[in-house]
Amino acid sequence: MGNEKVESLSGWQTGVNPFRRNQTGHADAEPCSIIIFGASGDLTRRKLVPALFNLTVDGSLTVPFDIIGFARRDKNHSEFRDDMQKALDEFSRTNPVRFSGLEKFLMSISYCRGNFDNPEDFKALAGYIRELETQRGGPPNRLYYLATPPDAFPEIIRNLKKSGLTVDNPVTEGWQRIVIEKPYGNDLKSAWMLTGAVHSVFKENQVYRIDHYLGKETVQNILAFRLGNGIFEPLWNRRYIDHVQITVAETLGVEGRAGYFDASGIARDMLQSHILQLFSLIAMEPPVSFDPEYIRDEKVKLLRSVRPIDMDNMQRQVVRGQYQNGSVGGKSVLGYREEPSISENSRTETYLAMRLEIDNWRWSEVPFYIRTGKRLARKITEVDIVFKAPPHRIFKQVGIERLQPNVLGLRIQPEEGMSLCIGSKRPGQSYEINPVSMEFNYSTSFGIPSPEAYERLLLDTILGDSTLFAREDEVELSWGLLDPVLKAWENDPSIHLANYEAGSWGPHEADILLSRDGRSWRDL
Ligand code: BG6
Repeated sequence: MGNEKVESLSGWQTGVNPFRRNQTGHADAEPCSIIIFGASGDLTRRKLVPALFNLTVDGSLTVPFDIIGFARRDKNHSEFRDDMQKALDEFSRTNPVRFSGLEKFLMSISYCRGNFDNPEDFKALAGYIRELETQRGGPPNRLYYLATPPDAFPEIIRNLKKSGLTVDNPVTEGWQRIVIEKPYGNDLKSAWMLTGAVHSVFKENQVYRIDHYLGKETVQNILAFRLGNGIFEPLWNRRYIDHVQITVAETLGVEGRAGYFDASGIARDMLQSHILQLFSLIAMEPPVSFDPEYIRDEKVKLLRSVRPIDMDNMQRQVVRGQYQNGSVGGKSVLGYREEPSISENSRTETYLAMRLEIDNWRWSEVPFYIRTGKRLARKITEVDIVFKAPPHRIFKQVGIERLQPNVLGLRIQPEEGMSLCIGSKRPGQSYEINPVSMEFNYSTSFGIPSPEAYERLLLDTILGDSTLFAREDEVELSWGLLDPVLKAWENDPSIHLANYEAGSWGPHEADILLSRDGRSWRDL
């Protein structure tokens, strides 16, 4: 059923992907070396190598490429290949043994041992890359992927330059691009410093700041939905929308990332990057075209219009929380401070709720409520657009005091899709209006699996399309918004840290954030 539907619409619906500049099939991909720094880490195993494999399997990446892992651990090529084969068995969305090109794919993987702060190791890496490039032929196109802890980024960038790996003369010497994983800085100042280090070697158009949320199909669908459907865009403003809720809830705790998470907290981990990206796509003005710079310009314009948090009344706008022990999915779980490697006095927030306002014509006086947390009741990411009530309360005459608002729910994950909640008369002699839901579900409508976010984003970096990557000014503005809050938490221990039970929907204080405005969080 699902497939038939897509085919019948394909006459007017299909085309080149507007989010991909220069897209003419995949003709723009060129042979290249993909150098992964931090290759023995989890990201390489779980995401990067499986993504490159799946791009090969589905025919999106047909040009020759070499994957070179660079990390501190002592390993030879074949040991690293074995590790990656195991990673494919465990994490690839397509079964590796069914792919006849598996052996060839594995042979494109090799390993270089080295320390990020040792220029000699980079010289050896440079020699090795050049050897591969000679064998492969074609221009020396190189994608440097920084999958290391962030404190290694500046050193790696410096050493890339020192070892002569970063010459960028597109005519004779191919392209060099750098992909930088989050966190991009730890606050505004460190983000500036990192940008300084990056720009001392790479031009902005060579830099790809990755945010895997932008690679999710359903996140890209926000723009398709807003701009491709005539009925919604006229409603997308303060005249019809009462408020917006963004929920990014996880059931997981810190899962072996205690060191990183305890030093950053959920505001840095989720809000500065993923959630502000979602927020920007929902609230930005329509771009005049799909040119990457035009889209990013609109996001920047939006972030500039966000009203800075009123620091004198911060606690009326921002709630932070930390989970205590409880039960998630029927299993008892420890409280945050009891987790291995977390200090028993830690004040790191595992939950954040925030009320934002945008000072522009479209959104004036429409609050955006954001909540995100670890160890919540269920894993769900959803944006809910809550519409205003009809102007005249005609149903009061038949005893109905309050109607449920119309809500458009954009479900990013899981069960990707959309729902529109409307009021309908309940069948029978009495007059009762009940909320009912019109649903669209990605998997049943299209019947084809979505590629993983990293597949999409890695292919874009190889194609040189930066649309789905954060630009320098976007990152700075998002840190700028958050920075005063982070500083206040750091400097003023009297600022309340609310507790919540693991497996709940977060602290009571987050409910007050909305009830003060006469609203409540959606039941998800
Ligand atoms: C990562 C965060 O960027 O995103 C993690 O560092 C978080 O803490 C993860 O769990 C959530 O991603 P997803 O795709 O599972 O929603």
